[in-house]
Amino acid sequence: MTKTLLLLPGDGIGPEVSAVARRVAGRLISQGLALKVEEALFGGASIDATGLPLTPEVLAQAKGADAVLMGAVGGPQWAGQPYDKRPEAGLLALRAGMNVYANLRPARCFSALADASSLKRVFVDGLDLLFVRELTGGVYFGSPRGVETLPDGQRRGVNTHVYTTSEIQRVARVAFELARGRTGAVCSAEKGNVMEAGLMWREDVQALRDAEYPDIKLSHMLADNMAMQLVKNPKQFDVILTDNLFGDILSDEAGMLTGSLGMLPSAAIGDPGTPGLYEPIHGSAPDIAGRGVANPCAAVLSLAMALRYSLGAAELASRVEAAVEAALDKGARTPDLGGTMTTAAMGDAILAGL
Ligand code: IPM
Ligand code: MG
Repeated sequence: MTKTLLLLPGDGIGPEVSAVARRVAGRLISQGLALKVEEALFGGASIDATGLPLTPEVLAQAKGADAVLMGAVGGPQWAGQPYDKRPEAGLLALRAGMNVYANLRPARCFSALADASSLKRVFVDGLDLLFVRELTGGVYFGSPRGVETLPDGQRRGVNTHVYTTSEIQRVARVAFELARGRTGAVCSAEKGNVMEAGLMWREDVQALRDAEYPDIKLSHMLADNMAMQLVKNPKQFDVILTDNLFGDILSDEAGMLTGSLGMLPSAAIGDPGTPGLYEPIHGSAPDIAGRGVANPCAAVLSLAMALRYSLGAAELASRVEAAVEAALDKGARTPDLGGTMTTAAMGDAILAGL
């Protein structure tokens, strides 16, 4: 049966890197993959056209697709808007609307790029971490939230970190299942030394491990210590489980260890049988947008994750990943990796391996 991939190119470099992912999908289709690619407006591009970062029509289209591949959202031209009118609000609404609560963020250091990392090669060569970040709860979505003015004239800003046991355990389950296909080790991060909800996170994760996953080697680490350990000895970790906010921060940190944020894909998945949302970790990079120099690898690798987790084509996913690696091994480099290739030329180099 033909599956549907909805492409949401978005803003900044999003359309540039999405175009390469689309070419890669096109190549696979010409080789027999039963896939239909649709495209819709999202983020700032949607605000400009409709006034909304995510229209109800596009959300319905996303929920009806088998997988959604997003480019990037945001840019300085929308930064002054109220929160609910910003491109980022569209992304949060899409994540919540699709109920994709588990965000998989692999941080893998390609050997050819180990010298592009800010750490010495010995610490990062062969690095292969998998972040499992909770994506539809925590302080990103908790209420009360907002800024009020107090009687004495000063302002009071509030955001709420909140989780229920079921929200914690469904994402922990994803981490445990994925760990079974790897080394079986999971390290969970929180700040249980200062936050009640952090201690509860630790307890609920441990309880699920004890009840259903006795084979998993589960450890716990305070999030600040993990930030330090990630630059001290990142290879001590395999699967890392975090809440929404700590996962946002720590996955950016780990991403830099691999050489470039331009290399890192992500997958957001929900309950089995529901569509996944795939996005490069890098943002819209307004400073280089429109110049045709953005690194398309993260977008292409996100397409590979979509093939693996939502489109039932794990073998093709491995072929796409191998094509990216082969291009790097042959010296293909965009400027973020110290080279001079354009986005399109990097795309050509990847397609050559397919
Ligand atoms: C990410 C981004 C988003 C987040 C922003 C754009 C809302 O930083 O995917 O890591 O904070 O989740
Ligand atoms: Mg982030």
